[in-house]
Amino acid sequence: MDNFTYHNPTKLIFGKGQLEAIPNEVKNYGKKVLIVYGGGSIKRNGIYDNVLAKLAEIDAEVYELSGVEPNPRISTVRKGVEICKQEGIEFILAIGGGSTIDCTKAIAVGAKTNVDMWDVVTKKAQPEGALPFGTVLTLAATGSEMNAGSVITNWETNEKHGWGSPFSYPKFSILDPTHTFSVPKDQTIYGIVDMMSHVFEHYFHQTTNTPIQDRFCESLLLTIMETAPKLLSDLENYEYRETIMLSGTLALNNMLNMGYRGDWASHNLEHAVSAVHDIPHGGGLAIIFPNWMKHVLDDQNVGRFKQLATRVFGVDPDGKSDHEIAIEGIDALRSFWNKIGAPSRLADYDIDESSVEFMADKTVVARPEYGNFKTLSKQDSIEIFKASL
Ligand code: NZQ
Ligand code: ZN
Repeated sequence: MDNFTYHNPTKLIFGKGQLEAIPNEVKNYGKKVLIVYGGGSIKRNGIYDNVLAKLAEIDAEVYELSGVEPNPRISTVRKGVEICKQEGIEFILAIGGGSTIDCTKAIAVGAKTNVDMWDVVTKKAQPEGALPFGTVLTLAATGSEMNAGSVITNWETNEKHGWGSPFSYPKFSILDPTHTFSVPKDQTIYGIVDMMSHVFEHYFHQTTNTPIQDRFCESLLLTIMETAPKLLSDLENYEYRETIMLSGTLALNNMLNMGYRGDWASHNLEHAVSAVHDIPHGGGLAIIFPNWMKHVLDDQNVGRFKQLATRVFGVDPDGKSDHEIAIEGIDALRSFWNKIGAPSRLADYDIDESSVEFMADKTVVARPEYGNFKTLSKQDSIEIFKASL
């Protein structure tokens, strides 16, 4: 393991009926509250009314920013920053999935600086602080509810970048599994693929002696894979929703990767695809991740693939070479994602060869090389995208 410091200040409030906690949590920060949400799912499933009723208990003065896009835009962040500055907002409450939460993180930091938030997202400027904010999670996927990361898209330049800072942890996050009952099947699938991908991003690293972390990752993958098919045929099952919701949080609250740095090349590749074609993040990952695995597999790193194949995908190693075992494991992942209904080719989103070069350019906008498990360049991006067509 490498040396590390772990500090996660987000209070997790988990379970049925936990919106009850809102008055007590929010009153610590002030009465002027901006609620941030997406395209209206929270109005259809009643979460909006329930949250407003809780805010009314502390006589909060509520402002609203709605319409946060999946793959949230910098233009929406700027709108939110303006509301905060004009109205003297004291607390922000995000109600939604990763997009709404990521947008809220950027608004919270943007409210405490005079530089444009795109400069912070692209790391030309440093965050100086943040308004306090909390979240009510409605979709299990990104882990944004308990990490400091945020991913923002600039549609004018077709760029999508992750950024984060010690200021961008939620003060609290409310995770009520019943809030995810209304998530449609396709978004549930994307969420499952995303959380599994976060575990894979951790799992593929070059640090030695990480037996606890490896087993944590493997147990999370096994649990998600056992629960996902059951949930997808019973979308309002509380226990399945509960298991998947906690899995999504644990997959990316940086507990799994104590003492080492994961890869993150597949996320860089996917962010380039969705920055150009605006596709769902989990859909893009389902297409790219197994192709990344096959692209980077070599004699030196085959051991990790072999461990994953035998421990998680139940591959029988008898009479097979390490390479064969590794490939069988990758194929088992592809089959599992096919079985639950995830996309497998860029063609599923009508993306063809004509945009490969442009998307590959976007993978190296921030830096010419990427990936911590295996270093990749633009040429690798081209090859992985071509294998994904
Ligand atoms: O906008 P509304 O109407 O709310 O509908 C949303 C949206 O259309 C809908 N939805 C959410 N909760 C629902 C629901 N529909 C019915 N019932 C509910 N309870 O689902 C759609 C997708 O929502 P979105 O927030 O975009 O999904 P997700 O949570 O997957 O977030 C994706 C974004 O997060 C970024 C991705 O790149 C993408 O931009 N990521 C953020 C990370 C982080 N902050 O740590 C890490 C991830 O790797 C990821 O990159
Ligand atoms: Zn992700």
